[in-house]
Amino acid sequence: MPESSAIYPGSFDPITNGHVDIVERGLKVFDRIVVAVLKNPKKATLFTTKERVRMIQGLFPSRKEVEVRAFDGLLVDFARAQGTPVVIRGLRAVSDFEYEFQMALMNRSLAQDIETFFMMPSMRYSFLSSNLVREVAALGGSVDGLVPPLVARRLRAKLGRSRNVKYP
Ligand code: PNS
Repeated sequence: MPESSAIYPGSFDPITNGHVDIVERGLKVFDRIVVAVLKNPKKATLFTTKERVRMIQGLFPSRKEVEVRAFDGLLVDFARAQGTPVVIRGLRAVSDFEYEFQMALMNRSLAQDIETFFMMPSMRYSFLSSNLVREVAALGGSVDGLVPPLVARRLRAKLGRSRNVKYP
């Protein structure tokens, strides 16, 4: 039987437990998942593209079925080049829907051969986003349980360790 594969694109700045949950769920459906990290010089990111790619690779060290690649340009072009006809996107809440709907239909109008496949993460990650993780970490809050330990360590290394707020 031919191998089924999908691409899971995102900014992953940084990858969270919600993203990892989607990769694990995706592997129940597809034989191979290419995690595609957006390289966008116009968008300021906390972690460089190389750092984001390395972090994700570090989370799936011996999983041949998970590949991590950086990409720029159109997602559908990259999906075709990788031989991955399906784009996986996570849907956390209704609020994600409009953006995801627009993106899926734009991608379809660009490339009819690429399908978008939506997956819901575990309920316990439905409030989680990379933006909030960065904000909590920058303000010295704990991100344990929100991101894998490797990512929590990288956040601490980048942003510092402890909350040091004193109220009168
Ligand atoms: O994690 P994000 O930031 O929600 O991921 C967004 C991403 C990377 C999937 C999206 O910005 C994207 O596909 N960018 C590549 C450029 C592109 O193809 N744009 C047209 C699709 S609407």
